[in-house]
Amino acid sequence: MKLKKRDILLVTIGAAIVVFLLSAPPATTNPVPYDDTHRQYYDLARDEGKKSAERFCEDCHNQDMMPLPEGHPPKYRCLFCHRLERDK
Ligand code: HEC
Ligand code: HEC
Repeated sequence: MKLKKRDILLVTIGAAIVVFLLSAPPATTNPVPYDDTHRQYYDLARDEGKKSAERFCEDCHNQDMMPLPEGHPPKYRCLFCHRLERDK
């Protein structure tokens, strides 16, 4: 079988994609602390799902009590980004 230009191109693109995926930065967003404040939400997320737990986050993490850092990404669905460390 003769290698065609197109084959070489495809392999090159494939390799580029793999390199791109492997070089993605590790997840760096801070997880939800597993402390006395947050432990109940771990339980809630496990028993009733993450959406149920997320309803409470903004009771404390809100503009008046504990503002999110400036430039915080859109905060819809906290637990997609802030992992529960005990998720496993
Ligand atoms: C009862 C108030 C309260 C609620 C509700 C609450 N938090 Fe917190 N949160 C705190 C306090 C106080 C801190 C800082 C001290 C600590 O780590 O517990 C904090 C810290 C954090 C941090 C920062 C961790 C770090 O490393 O800096 C994250 C992320 C966080 N909370 C996410 C959440 C999410 C997601 C929810 C909803 C599931 C939530 N919190 C619900 C009070 C609350
Ligand atoms: C799209 C992803 C995303 C979502 C959704 C999200 N966050 Fe964050 N959050 C981040 C990132 C990234 C940072 C770090 C920002 C920085 O350092 O400027 C951060 C920072 C924080 C911090 C400051 C302490 C720390 O860990 O740096 C708190 C507290 C926090 N988020 C709470 C929440 C809460 C509560 C919600 C839901 C209402 C939420 N976040 C939703 C990505 C997210």
